[in-house]
Amino acid sequence: MSLLVTGGAGFIGSNFIRRVAPKSSEPVVVLDALTYAGNLSSLDGVDGFTFVKGDICDRDLLGRVLAEHAIDRIVHFAAESHVDRSIHGPAQFIQTNVVGTATLLEAARAHGVLKFVHVSTDEVYGDLGPDEPAFTEETPIRPRSPYSASKAGSDHLVRAYFETYGFPMVITRCSNNYGPFQFPEKLIPLMILNALDGQRLPVYGDGLNVRDWIHVKDHCAAVERVLQEGRSGEVYNIGGRAERTNISIVKEILRLLQKPESLIQFVQDRLGHDRRYAIDCTKIERELGFVPQHRFENGLAETIEWFRQNDVWCKRARSGEYRDWYERNYRGRKDAPK
Ligand code: NAD
Ligand code: TYD
Repeated sequence: MSLLVTGGAGFIGSNFIRRVAPKSSEPVVVLDALTYAGNLSSLDGVDGFTFVKGDICDRDLLGRVLAEHAIDRIVHFAAESHVDRSIHGPAQFIQTNVVGTATLLEAARAHGVLKFVHVSTDEVYGDLGPDEPAFTEETPIRPRSPYSASKAGSDHLVRAYFETYGFPMVITRCSNNYGPFQFPEKLIPLMILNALDGQRLPVYGDGLNVRDWIHVKDHCAAVERVLQEGRSGEVYNIGGRAERTNISIVKEILRLLQKPESLIQFVQDRLGHDRRYAIDCTKIERELGFVPQHRFENGLAETIEWFRQNDVWCKRARSGEYRDWYERNYRGRKDAPK
């Protein structure tokens, strides 16, 4: 009996593997296609897992992996995850997030897995006005970007498998994550690295869009709780109770790094830019006893410190050099992960 984690070389997936693999009594298998967002060096020094390089759209590979490793539980992180990229090219998002999830679901159903945790996002609920109440699990799905629409499509498929086949699934919908190993295309790592380099910090529109931030370690702790105790057929919202405007975060990063606010550059707004996300996570608190441990201001300061201290990881991530990592480390070796 083993646990399969898809997307385990990405930002949240690698933090999850760091949390669960070393202490796991069951074998842990990471399946990741190593797209631009997958970085095996984020798992350097972590014990207790087997890596398989592969695509969730590959039905034959999935069948083999599930059978060979006797997989009985799956946590599904693999996805295209960046809204700006989805605006420039929706097709890859539909392929990975919708077709990939559908392929994984079918393989998991055929194999008879006992638990499937589908990691989704609060962005499927759409956006909120300044005074509207936070999203609950009952809020209607109303995605507004190609990214969130593709995630909503995958959520619908997962739910349909439960209703139709009694498939043992749980969906989590989390707010914006920040923390170690986040790819520097997302707001917080991009602003930290630009500020450290003395480069401009591009803030979209008026900078007053609001996101509800959670430390990645809190998100991973919540997913672990859901894997252990989440009820089949349920949706659990996960959030950090930390609504902040983008501009306040950017200013706080500059303050902590003692850099001037003149580095801020207001740039053209993102198309269809969601104004506000806010998540009501009462259900997971009440049912599973999950409470986030990180206060945003402390977590942000720790994250800045992490990016400062891990300049090799950052340089590789920015230059794309990490993409050769697999080849350089495993070329021709018998023990190369397949
Ligand atoms: P990420 O982009 O950092 O990582 C995605 C990982 O999936 C990468 O390792 C990539 O190589 C892998 N992958 C992509 N396509 C694949 C495919 N076809 N087959 C196998 N692997 C593939 O993403 P992240 O920020 O770690 O997000 C992980 C999950 O959490 C996603 O499903 C995302 O929608 C969800 N989520 C993210 C956030 C956030 O703030 N980052 C918030 C809520 C939910
Ligand atoms: P992002 O990290 O891309 O996450 P998401 O779009 O999934 O919420 O962006 C967070 C917020 O920061 C969002 O309102 C867009 C804004 N943003 C900027 O202002 N400048 C940037 O360079 C980026 C990447 C994001």
